Order: sequence, then C-alpha cells, then structure tokens
Amino acid sequence: MNFDTLIQETIENYRSYHNPSLARLLKLSGFNTLEWEGEGCIVKDIQGKKYIDCLGGYGVFALGHRPPKVIQAVKDQLDKLPLSTKVFFNKPLGDLCKKLAEITPGNLKYSFIANSGTEAVEGALKLARFSTGRTQIIHAKNAFHGKTFGSLSASGRDQYKTPFEPLLPDFVSVPFGDAEALESKITPNTAAIILEPIQGEGGICLPPDSYLQKIRKICDEKQILLILDEVQTGLCRTGDWFACQHFNIVPDILVLAKALGGGVMPIGAFIGTEKVWEAFKTNPLIHTSTFGGNPLACRAALAALEVMQEENLAEKAKKNGEYFISKLKNAAENYPDMIQEIRGLGLMIGIELTSPHYGGSLIPEMAKQGVLVAYTLNQPKVIRIEPPLIIQKNEIDIVLQAFSKSLEKVKQFFSKKEPAHASS
Ligand SMILES: Cc1ncc(COP(=O)(O)O)c(C=O)c1O
Repeated sequence: MNFDTLIQETIENYRSYHNPSLARLLKLSGFNTLEWEGEGCIVKDIQGKKYIDCLGGYGVFALGHRPPKVIQAVKDQLDKLPLSTKVFFNKPLGDLCKKLAEITPGNLKYSFIANSGTEAVEGALKLARFSTGRTQIIHAKNAFHGKTFGSLSASGRDQYKTPFEPLLPDFVSVPFGDAEALESKITPNTAAIILEPIQGEGGICLPPDSYLQKIRKICDEKQILLILDEVQTGLCRTGDWFACQHFNIVPDILVLAKALGGGVMPIGAFIGTEKVWEAFKTNPLIHTSTFGGNPLACRAALAALEVMQEENLAEKAKKNGEYFISKLKNAAENYPDMIQEIRGLGLMIGIELTSPHYGGSLIPEMAKQGVLVAYTLNQPKVIRIEPPLIIQKNEIDIVLQAFSKSLEKVKQFFSKKEPAHASS
C-alpha cells in the first residue's frame, strides 16, 4: 500500500469513526499526513519529512522522542511484569514515590500515581476536600487542569465547560494574578486554592511579582491548602525542577504528569505533605486506580527523572530558554503589527499574536518549514513553544529561521487581504 493510500485511509477513519471535526481541523492546519517516527527533537511523517518538534506533545517530550534510557527501562520491565497484580508490593511504584519525595521541594512526601494529568488533578481535589473537611475550591480564570469533571470545574474557557454543566459545586474562579480578588472569595468552607504557577493553556501567563508568595501566605494564615498544578511547568521545563522553586514557595499538594513518563509512558502523580496525607491513611483503598502506578509507567518515570538529573536539564532549559526568548524577541521587532509579546520562562515560551488569524496561517507555514508548534488551548492568540529540553543551539537557530521566514510569508499573505482584526 502506498503512503497516500495510508494517509487517506487514516483521515477517513478519523472522519467516519473517531472525530470528524478534528479531521477537518488537522487538514485545515496543514497537518494532513501521518506522524510516523521520532528521535530526539525530530519527528518524521510517513513521507519522511522531518520536523523539529517545538510542541513536544504539550510538554510530554522533555527528553525528546524515544530517549534510550527510558526505552530500555520500559523494555526490561515489559519482559518481567508490565502491569501490577495489585496484591503484592510493587517495587517500581515504591521506588518512584521515594524518588518524588527526594526531588520535590519542602516537606512534600507521599505520592499517588495516576495515569494522566487530569486524573492526578482529580485525586488532588479529592484529597483537599477530605483532608480539610471543606468543599470550596478557588481556581483561576483561564486555567487549564484537564477535562474530567473535577479538573474541568477548576478550568477556564466556557466553550469547554458550558456543554457539560452542571459541573461540580463550590468551585469559584478569580482572575489569575490578583491576590486581593482571590482573598475576597475565601469563606470558612474554602478547602483549597488550585493554580498553575505559570498558566500554560491560558497563554503562557507568568504570575505578577510576589503573587504566588502572597497566595502561600494567605493559605497559611487561613489554613487553606495550596495545590500547584505543575503538569506542564514541572520537571525542569522552566529552568528549575519545579516552577514553584522560582518563587520560593512549596504547595501542600503538587500535581505532575506529562514529562514524568519520559515521553514513553502515560503517567500522572500528586504528591502531598504528611499532614495532608493523614486523611488518606484512614482507609488504604479510599483512592485507587487499576492502572495507576503500573510497573511499566513507574520504570519509565524513574528512568526519566534519572536522565533529567544526569543531564542537568533544568540548567539547559534555563540557558537555552534565555537564548530562544531573546532571539524570538529580536525577530518579533520587525513585525510589531503581528506580534504583541514574546514571554516565557525556561523552555516554556509563548508568542502572543495581535490576532488569532495570524496563528491560523503561521502554524501551517512553520510546519511547511519543518517546525511543529500549536496555539494554547484557552488562548488561540498565543502560540506556544515547548521543545524537548535536550534541544541544541543549532536546532534553535533552525527554528528561529523558520519563524522569521514564516512571519514574512504570513505578512505578505495578509497584506494582500484585509488586515486581520485583533480579537480574542
Ligand atoms: C496544567 C495542566 N494540568 C492538567 C492537564 C491535563 O493533563 P492530561 O491531558 O494528561 O489529562 C494539562 C494538560 O495540558 C495541563 O497543562
């Protein structure tokens, strides 16, 4: 069978049996081929065209595609016992929980291992309610914590929420970055505040100075739990192990996923202090998951954490992020009508356009130039750049060239049409 037939067959399967509107969106965005193989920062489509992966599976591929040590660990485990019997002690699970206690800041100690980000958030929310005996959860507008009911209740963007209402009760939203607004919503029934230290899907939004420290202080004074969702920011992405370390704060519950599986296995985790975890100690089966903590995923995570440590990926993300952001800013100077702002921390970078229409052209143009990027889910005006943390300077330079070339093409395209209207 030739490649074109395989491509058409798969697109047709999406259209007929999976998700017709996604099939249309991918085609319109210029991604009408099949992903086929990957290695390091490079993904190849079925026709052999190479792309530098600057989307990185929304941050999943911190170690690049198929990192050898993670692949080896998973292969070893595959030949022994891939999934858990659930009755014996599971060594990779125990090892991973110990490792997470070692690398997480402050007195974070106990972990529950789940299978995805949203599942880990669900667990964190349950733990917060159980541990405090209260029900109200305060979250930020424009946040993204996942798409299951609890996580969605704590997230922004109505178009993802409204069709599923009523969502969970006692979830209250406040603008991200406004500590006073947040404090005004606290009641005697407030269990927890859940925040991303840097909003990812909200458009790579950094917190204002001292915001997170203020929130930590409020939580301490009012005996409210702070849940930090570091599913996207955690594990070296922003230039430290965890983004909260830039702000010198420690949450009561930390949520991880994405990069934790080393780009090979799906996994999520929430890690809490001994005090918070007391509630869970009352019943060993109070929160469980059949697949959560499976040996394959835990071995992948252990190997991934080892690689992050050995290769000092936090430091690399910091240095390369500074270089990347400064060069993107230089390139953007020539396009003030199209680019509002370049911002980010480490290798979590956002390009805010003056109109989402530009993104609709820029993303496929960059794919043509061999670079994968995407917009952020709650803010289509922002294109996010989250490459593997192993990206080399010469690869960053190729991305920068593709960016400048694509910007020029998009500018020419729009100069022949009506100017794109700035909208949100
Ligand atoms: C901050 C944050 N939390 C939670 C999630 C949900 O993770 P998952 O898609 O694995 O359920 C995401 C996914 O993008 C995220 O960015």
